[in-house]
Amino acid sequence: MKNKVVIVTGGSSGMGKGMAKKFAQEGAKVVITGRSMERLQAAQEEIEQVEGQVLCVEMDVRDPDKVQYTIEETKKRFGEIDFLVNNAAGNFMCAAEDLSINGWNSVVDIVLNGTWYCSQAVGKEWIKTGKKGRILNIVTTYSWTGGAGVIHSASAKAGVLAMTRTLAVEWGSKYGICVNAIAPGPIEDTGGSAKLLQSEEARKQVLKGVPLGRPGRPEEIAGLAKFLFSAEADYINGDCITMDGGAWLNRSPF
Ligand code: HXC
Repeated sequence: MKNKVVIVTGGSSGMGKGMAKKFAQEGAKVVITGRSMERLQAAQEEIEQVEGQVLCVEMDVRDPDKVQYTIEETKKRFGEIDFLVNNAAGNFMCAAEDLSINGWNSVVDIVLNGTWYCSQAVGKEWIKTGKKGRILNIVTTYSWTGGAGVIHSASAKAGVLAMTRTLAVEWGSKYGICVNAIAPGPIEDTGGSAKLLQSEEARKQVLKGVPLGRPGRPEEIAGLAKFLFSAEADYINGDCITMDGGAWLNRSPF
């Protein structure tokens, strides 16, 4: 990834930070975005201690103007954009019947609309300049199984998976732009694990369903993301790679 420019939304913590750190170690110029400049700067410090150049841009993926601003700031600092990771997400556990309209809208707005705003804005930039960039969307295995207790997130992530496959064909055939996804299972030290595995009992229950018996690590997701941006992955387009220790297949009653 030497000198490649990559934008990671939700890059100040969890998987986003893990990916940003890995990309920086590989020589990339990394742009991390998020809602809190303080958290972004803390992540920047942590990443730059190891290696690389990091630009922090305060932006909420729900705001298309801020998304455009991020693109302009990236071009100003690094000249161009090679890769985009749509990692920013919002989620909370809530019974479907109790979910308010605002609760539904806020998660769908972050996950589905935010991914779209970023993808379209960066895609238009690539189409204008003729760059064959790559987009990586972070989904989850409940994009296709459904997710009891997180209907807003499951519905939005399913939309992001459909978006991945649609753009892979539409932009792949016209512009050579590749779009893929990663579907992580439970990953430690992330906003998702903090939200969804709140009690020790919930954690045990979830890990019981993971054949490998442990949560994944942000670095493992980062390694896969790095691969998907490498020359070895040039021919992968429109796929979703699961990294969940085998959890979603583990439906056997035996
Ligand atoms: C019920 C809730 C709620 C909860 C918020 N709401 N939390 N309802 N239970 N626990 C409702 C609020 O009451 C409000 O509705 C509406 O949602 C919006 O809430 P706000 O706090 O005003 O919204 P906002 O500040 O925009 O925050 C968005 C958020 C928040 C999604 C609610 O949690 C957030 O910013 N999250 C970002 C980080 C995050 O969630 N990371 C985890 C991603 S994990 P009313 O009607 O009262 O106005 C992930 C994992 C997937 O995606 C895979 C795992 C295996």
